[in-house]
Amino acid sequence: MPTSCDGPIDKLSHRAHGLSNMSLPHIVIVKFGGSSVSSAACWHTITTQIKRLLSHQQRPVIVCSALHGVSNHLAHLASLTRTRASSPMAAATAEFTSIHRRMCKSLNLPTSLVDSAVAELTRLTQLAADSSSPEQSHPALTAKIMALGEYTLTTIGHAYLTQQGLSSWLLDAGDWLHSPSQPPVALPYGLTDHYLNASCDYTYDPELNQQCLNSPAEVIITQGFIATDHRGDTVLLGRGGSDTSATYLAAKLGAAAVEIWTDVPGIFTANPQEIPDSRLLLQLSYDEAQELASSGAKVLHPRCIEPLATAQIPLSIHWTHHPHLDVSTTISADGHSGYNVKGICAKKDIYVFSMTSIKMWQQAGFLAEIFALFKQFHLSCDTVSTSESNITVTVNAAIQNLSADILSQLKERLSSICSLSVYSDCVSISLVGQGIRSILHRLAPMLKVFEDRKVFVVSQAANNLNFSFTVQRQDAPGILKQLHALLFSATTDPHLHIFGPTWQQLDQQAGQTPSPLQAATQSYLLWWQQHRTEIQAMLEPAATACTLPAYVYHLPTIRQRAAELSKLTAVSMKYYALKANPHPQIITTIADFGFGFDCVSYGEIAYLKDHLATFEPRRIIFTPNFAPITEYERALQDGVTVTVDNLELIKAHPEVFAGQTIMLRIDLGTRHGHHQYVKTAGDESKFGIPKDEWANLISLIQTHSIALKGLHAHQGSGIAAMSIWRDSAAALIELADTIPRNHRSWPSLLIDVGGGFPIPDHPEEHSTFCATTLNTELMILKARHPGYEFAIEPGRYLVAEAGIIVTEVHQVKTKHHRHYIGVDAGMHTLIRPSLYGAYHHISHLHPPDHQPDRELITADIVGPICESGDILAHERRILQARPHDLLVICGAGAYGRVMASHYNQRGLPEEYIIDKVGVHGAPTPA
Ligand code: LLP
Repeated sequence: MPTSCDGPIDKLSHRAHGLSNMSLPHIVIVKFGGSSVSSAACWHTITTQIKRLLSHQQRPVIVCSALHGVSNHLAHLASLTRTRASSPMAAATAEFTSIHRRMCKSLNLPTSLVDSAVAELTRLTQLAADSSSPEQSHPALTAKIMALGEYTLTTIGHAYLTQQGLSSWLLDAGDWLHSPSQPPVALPYGLTDHYLNASCDYTYDPELNQQCLNSPAEVIITQGFIATDHRGDTVLLGRGGSDTSATYLAAKLGAAAVEIWTDVPGIFTANPQEIPDSRLLLQLSYDEAQELASSGAKVLHPRCIEPLATAQIPLSIHWTHHPHLDVSTTISADGHSGYNVKGICAKKDIYVFSMTSIKMWQQAGFLAEIFALFKQFHLSCDTVSTSESNITVTVNAAIQNLSADILSQLKERLSSICSLSVYSDCVSISLVGQGIRSILHRLAPMLKVFEDRKVFVVSQAANNLNFSFTVQRQDAPGILKQLHALLFSATTDPHLHIFGPTWQQLDQQAGQTPSPLQAATQSYLLWWQQHRTEIQAMLEPAATACTLPAYVYHLPTIRQRAAELSKLTAVSMKYYALKANPHPQIITTIADFGFGFDCVSYGEIAYLKDHLATFEPRRIIFTPNFAPITEYERALQDGVTVTVDNLELIKAHPEVFAGQTIMLRIDLGTRHGHHQYVKTAGDESKFGIPKDEWANLISLIQTHSIALKGLHAHQGSGIAAMSIWRDSAAALIELADTIPRNHRSWPSLLIDVGGGFPIPDHPEEHSTFCATTLNTELMILKARHPGYEFAIEPGRYLVAEAGIIVTEVHQVKTKHHRHYIGVDAGMHTLIRPSLYGAYHHISHLHPPDHQPDRELITADIVGPICESGDILAHERRILQARPHDLLVICGAGAYGRVMASHYNQRGLPEEYIIDKVGVHGAPTPA
């Protein structure tokens, strides 16, 4: 059984073919793509894998892409410079800054690491927008702007590795990778290609090999995607070019192996998002991998195979998010495994040009004439099929510039020499495998799937690896599924050693056995990702009846947090702040952990009497503010603990308080919280009795024979600093020490340090609150001051992460470059973003991987309320949304539904519960 530390290197041959005369190379190139560098969990995995390589005496060279979505963002920013619209440019720069700062925070690194990149980005965008700086061409500046994604991320990565105790060398990839091409002066296409689609020399360089092996650093970290030209200008290797950076470096350095860490475990027999039965391909030859990549398999960039094949270096693909699952695809010289179809690929956005002319018949140069036109428009043809009077070619518009303008010019020119038909929006389906020609007879039964379907081109490549059909888009999904079932069903397949588990099996395995690393870093905010199907099914009736948005609560998450706080052995009374979320099942769940309740109105006390079977007055603390005196009276009559936060109250109503035992709420003068409206102490706050009134207070309680049960201080909500509760406790004890003996309740005084424990707003943020730390600090105080007990009053911490809002997209629009996603939730559903500018993580209910045709955009997510402040998320990076999509608003379990309103005569959202044992679908009665 492999341990979690076992890894790919153990399975790869350590030889680099063609380098057999040299001493055994030890360099391993480890490339991490965008989705593999974008969270703290990813960096945890990166560090573990690097340590594994080091323990095998390897010299790791890490090649990193930019953070997920950042290259698109920078490409968009570079395109904005052409419009010179300064405010969208500034907004995009701010977004770049905040994405990277957030990454720094999640890795506990200083956000200042990002500062110089931001300054450079600002400088470059201004330069690009300034038409009077012709000394830099736009493609050259675009390359520099886009390169900042990788430069910034590797700066952060380098700091992280250092923090983890790994000595690392931050190498500028441009120092080692060089594009030999000269920038053309006149051709606009050529200029773009030179700067944004460069190729590099990858001849083995013994000097670099030695530099790398002799470096005193344990690990080298460098950027993917980036190289320099002969003048030292930054050039890029084309989108997805980081794979190519990795293999160029491997060939140049004479590496023993390349590992590509990505969001899938390898290459499958088909796109697993479309065909969940797709099987993992365990081994491939270089030319099969090349053909699969060129035919639409997206895992590897097609250009990255050639350097490997030339230098005979093996490459393996690994799943960053489940490193403990021992599965991968290995591409090597040994990967050849007989004549088989290895995969089915689909390329979308294919144009078919069908050209007919009788002139073709025995006419020399006709084909050349046609292809000269394609060349002129800088278009390359994928497949070509000819007969005596017809040539049909396909052009992949997904990766080439076939704008409406170019298309119409090309059509005009072609029409002058032949009769032309153009079909857009086609899909090219390729069967890929070694010796495909010799197995055509085995494919015969499969041709039936094309019955009643239009096939534009059938092509069998001369390299004997590819047999493809170009069909209409609407027919492609059915054809793909049928072909895949016929070719790869597990029962009929005799080549089990090539084909690994299905995607579905792997996905299930991954879900069932989260790695220890992931378990440690998984965010409570994302519990719903394990329950997508239940949520969808549970809300189906609500969606049909248009009664979304809905709140959904996850009781196991609440139990986790309650269990965590139960370990605070220094705390004798734990009150849940009912105001955060009074859902009956939630309060029962929390009461089961021994929590009492903090109420702020008599209404809340009455609510508990009605909804909590185990209601006990002695487990309730009443902490009102400017409430009618009748509420205090009734609470005292009920026997709950009453907190007074205003001396005037006692002066005005001595008959109510005289002879009673109460708590006093003290304003310690320091204020904390996530927003000024939730800071509940200090000069500008209406809460509490200031410390400087302490002397008056003591004389007042003496006058009215009041006994004190203890002191209370709640400084605010969502407090980031961990020291606050300890400091409050110490300050309250100092005051309490001066309470006259006969005015103290016996045997000890209660020191209530309030609530305010924070939760991470973003799934990639670490929690800044640590129950163990608080416990230790309170234990120390308790040891020093034996006459005191401690109490806490958390609200948010217990319930916030456990609640989501599921909301439906109703309309999307773009106005003056700004995208809006309009959902049925709004400030009437969740007021926190409008009231406090609160951040709530929002994403699609269904995983982004299932939506390959959607781009990441920056959008405002807004509700239907007639107020400009009705914004749930401002300038948020999110996958494009469409009407009827369901979005999830995370972290909405606290101060969510309870603060919802009927504003604009809109309904209150319904609430649903998910518990470990299943789903209780019926909404809670209003
Ligand atoms: N104790 C007292 C006296 C309080 O006033 C509060 C909250 C708590 C305890 C619980 O605080 P927590 O642990 O939940 O932070 N609506 C705002 C929060 C207002 C908090 C009001 N008092 C928000 O959505 O952020």
